[in-house]
Amino acid sequence: SLFGNKAKDVFKNIDSILILAAGTSYYAGLTAKYWFESIAKIPTAIEISSEYRYRDSVPNLNQLVISISQSGETLDTIEALKHAKKIGHKKTLAICNVQESAIVRASSLVFYTRAGIEIGVASTKAFTTQITVLSLLALHLGMVKGSLSRSEYQKHLAELESIPDKVSEILKQEKLIKEVASSFNETSNCIYLGRGYNFPVALEGALKLKEISYIHAEGYPAAEMKHGPIALIDEQMPVVVIATKKGHYDKVVSNIQEIKSRKGRIIAVVSEGDVRVKELADYCIEVPESLECFTPILTTIPLQLLSYYIAVQR
Ligand code: F6R
Repeated sequence: SLFGNKAKDVFKNIDSILILAAGTSYYAGLTAKYWFESIAKIPTAIEISSEYRYRDSVPNLNQLVISISQSGETLDTIEALKHAKKIGHKKTLAICNVQESAIVRASSLVFYTRAGIEIGVASTKAFTTQITVLSLLALHLGMVKGSLSRSEYQKHLAELESIPDKVSEILKQEKLIKEVASSFNETSNCIYLGRGYNFPVALEGALKLKEISYIHAEGYPAAEMKHGPIALIDEQMPVVVIATKKGHYDKVVSNIQEIKSRKGRIIAVVSEGDVRVKELADYCIEVPESLECFTPILTTIPLQLLSYYIAVQR
């Protein structure tokens, strides 16, 4: 198998998963939590490395500890992994981009993201490869655990194989995304909203804007907006909303209506052919349809490009 025979025995006997990571890798992990539970039906917890390493926690030794890191050298994640081992964990898997790294050396199983050398700090291709690898792992675990039928597995795999072409489609909207970026000239704050599988994408989108465009941004689960952040929305506030079809579409549309009634500027990432959001939003960036669970691999791309073009302009 993809992960080797050693992995098969380990995977068969786990009852849950604990993910450890920082920054963008943490958001990749959060996406994976949704997949591990929906596709593989394995209870999954996720912790920020720098919190986990210092807090008292109760180890479950039947848990698979997955550490996710582009560099494999993030000190908090190395220490979180060492801490996990110290309190008794033995089943460790690293999802890592750098082969000769501390996290790889400290883990019993390894799955490389093979993104090539990450030159910029923004971890964009790292994130995309991390979630792709994690989606494969979710499918694989689903098979090992018997929670996914072979035909469902094949269906998901075929969808994954179609993702690169769909990403190429998204890249064709470069001109539109540049235009959206130019509307950010006077912007000093921005909110990102997403629900379900696309909630972690909202967090990652906000992080990219902060990190490379130096604009304050917050990512929120769309429905949580009404519990506070809504107070910040006015005509100065761009709100980037991921509103792809399926899943929570109707609910996200009503979130968008709330933003609209507060005069917020709406930049939406929608499914190809969308009509309802187009009536409400200032800008709509389309992504091709996909299985709902895999939309994060697509919706991430326009948000990365948006931050990039805003940064270039600034
Ligand atoms: C975001 C970014 C950081 C890293 C974080 C973890 O673009 O670069 O947030 O994601 O420092 O780094 P790795 O993945 O190397 O452990």
